[in-house]
Amino acid sequence: MSIQPNMVAEHFCQQFDGQPEWIVRAPGRVNLIGEHTDYNDGFVMPLAIDRAIWIALRPRADRRVAVHSIDYNERQEFSLEDLTDEKAGWIEYLKGTAWSLMDAGHQLTGFEGIVVGDVPLGAGLSSSAALEMATARAFAVAGDLPWDPAVMAKLGQRAENRWIGVNCGIMDQLISAAGQADHALLIDCRSLETQPVPFPEGVAIVVLDTSTRRGLVDSAYNERRSQCESAAEFFKVKALRDVELDLFSQVGHDLDDVTQSRALHVITENERTLQAAEAMRRGELAALGVLMNKSHESLRDDYEVSSDALNAMVEAALAHEACYGARMTGAGFGGCAVALVRLDAADDFATKTEAAYKEATGHDPAIYVCRATNGAEVVSAQ
Ligand code: GLA
Repeated sequence: MSIQPNMVAEHFCQQFDGQPEWIVRAPGRVNLIGEHTDYNDGFVMPLAIDRAIWIALRPRADRRVAVHSIDYNERQEFSLEDLTDEKAGWIEYLKGTAWSLMDAGHQLTGFEGIVVGDVPLGAGLSSSAALEMATARAFAVAGDLPWDPAVMAKLGQRAENRWIGVNCGIMDQLISAAGQADHALLIDCRSLETQPVPFPEGVAIVVLDTSTRRGLVDSAYNERRSQCESAAEFFKVKALRDVELDLFSQVGHDLDDVTQSRALHVITENERTLQAAEAMRRGELAALGVLMNKSHESLRDDYEVSSDALNAMVEAALAHEACYGARMTGAGFGGCAVALVRLDAADDFATKTEAAYKEATGHDPAIYVCRATNGAEVVSAQ
């Protein structure tokens, strides 16, 4: 069973006397299509999933933040008057978000609270973005700050880039802040405009965790980012978003082979993402599935961010007759794949894909049938 507000309130009562004043949640995400396009000013189409980070909180007058993590069974504190990076693990996400909000001119109120979540850590389902956006939502409700999802997502991304030191794009924070129940969001990562795209009837989104993790993700990610930047420079544009396939076909061969393949992925992935949003609006699940499969091939062959485990998972998923399409999702090199599956066969799909993947790789996967939920929100006021 997923986490419920009364469970979160109970955790608060056990750690601090009395009731919390507010409960907030911010979800993890899975990206349906549009991978490694966000930092190229391109298009992505993720959904917020029914796994989230929750904070129950009560404001305090002394500008201190005292938080007990249920998952780490640990309490940490800091003062808003004196924020220092002590590399102290999970609390740095709260500190970094506080720093980013204050740096943008917001007056923050301290609070005591508990944090609890069910977004698997390190699986590529954006547990960090969820923690940043839950923290932002908590400070916003405690200090009566205006809540604009895109503005808050930018501040969360800044915390991740500058405090945590991970050079991510805007996708994870924005979908965690702005997600909509029963919809994916088509996001223009240049304007930050979001368009909700409803899920057609009868389809399940299945997250397939390979249970493999790769430490090298950060350096490979940064390398891909700079390859994209040099390709954009070559085309004399601000970002690869501005290059059409026609132009690429005419002059792209003057790039070195690797940069050419990276650019080809980004340019085609942007097109696929726009086509995928159209297919989904029209309820054309077979067409959407084909685009997801092509995305996987492009990430595997041109962008080179897949892995044997991810490829085996996608292959296992596609072997099931109820699967419309499947691909790796997130940064890559490990973590999760995502599949679009006929709803009436979702359980059978999960069982058979699990067995086939285990047989092929020897790894024990985790499989979740997901629902699209709202982004960061105040769930209840006591
Ligand atoms: C990670 C980053 C995102 C995005 C994806 C790849 O999840 O945090 O900003 O770049 O990788 O699409």
